[in-house]
Amino acid sequence: MLSTHDLRVSYGMSEVIHGISFDIGEMETVAIMGRNGMGKTTLFKSLVGILKAEGIVTLGGEAVVDRKPYERVARGLAYVPQGRLVFGTLTVEENIATGLEATGARVIPGDIYDLFPVLLDMRRRKAGNLSGGQQQQLAIARALASNPRILLLDEPTEGIQPSIIKQLARTLNDIKQIRKISILVSEQVLSFATEVADRMLVMDKGRIVHEAAGEAIDAQQISRYLTV
Ligand SMILES: Nc1ncnc2c1ncn2[C@@H]1O[C@H](COP(=O)(O)OP(=O)(O)OP(=O)(O)O)[C@@H](O)[C@H]1O
Ligand SMILES: [Mg+2]
Repeated sequence: MLSTHDLRVSYGMSEVIHGISFDIGEMETVAIMGRNGMGKTTLFKSLVGILKAEGIVTLGGEAVVDRKPYERVARGLAYVPQGRLVFGTLTVEENIATGLEATGARVIPGDIYDLFPVLLDMRRRKAGNLSGGQQQQLAIARALASNPRILLLDEPTEGIQPSIIKQLARTLNDIKQIRKISILVSEQVLSFATEVADRMLVMDKGRIVHEAAGEAIDAQQISRYLTV
C-alpha cells in the first residue's frame, strides 16, 4: 500500500531522516514508536509531500516522491497531523466537509457518524468548542471523508485522557475493519500502540532501530527505547 526505500529528509543542510525503508501492507496497521524529536513528524510530512524528500516513496505501487500533497490525497493518502488542527470557527459538519474537496464528492460518507456518534450530536457546533478528544475524532473523520486507502495519524493520543485513548484505539480498529484500509500511526503511548498495531517500528534519531510484528512484539523491549 505504502512503501519507502532509503528515504532521506533534511531541513536546510541538516539531515533529520537518514535513509528509512519500510512497507505497509493492505489492511495492516503499523505503529512508528519514538521519543520526542526522533523524526516522526518529519517522516509523516515527507510521506504526505509537505516536506521534500530524497529516496523512493510508493503509494499503491506508484512512485510519488515528486507528487504534490493533493495528488497523493487523490491517490488514497489521508493525513491527521499532530495537534489535530481542526478549523475552530467552522462547525463540525463543515470541518468534515473540507475533507471531501480532495475527491470532489459532495456527500459525507454515511459510516462517519456511525464511527463517531458524538460528532453527529455536535455537528452544528463550532469545532473550537470541542474537547481535545472530540477534536481528534473530528480530525480523523475529516481524513476519512476523502475515502482513503491509507490513513496516517501523527501522535493521535497526545494530550488526550486515558479513557478516550482506549476508545480511540477501538475506533481505529473498527475503521480498519469497516473501510478495509491500512493505517500508519506514530506514537509514544505503548499501551495504545499495542491495541492497534500489527507491527511496530522504533525510530531513533531519524533511523529505524527495531522492528517486530504480532506475537514477537516485546512491549518491555520497546518501552526501553521510549524511556531512555
Ligand atoms: N522546521 C524545522 N527546521 C529545522 N529542524 C527541525 C524542524 N522541525 C523539526 N526539526 C528537527 O528535526 C528533528 C525531528 O523532529 P520531529 O518534529 O520530526 O520529531 P518528532 O519525533 O515528531 O517529535 P515529537 O514527538 O516531539 O512530535 C528534531 O531534531 C527537530 O528539532
Ligand atoms: Mg511530532
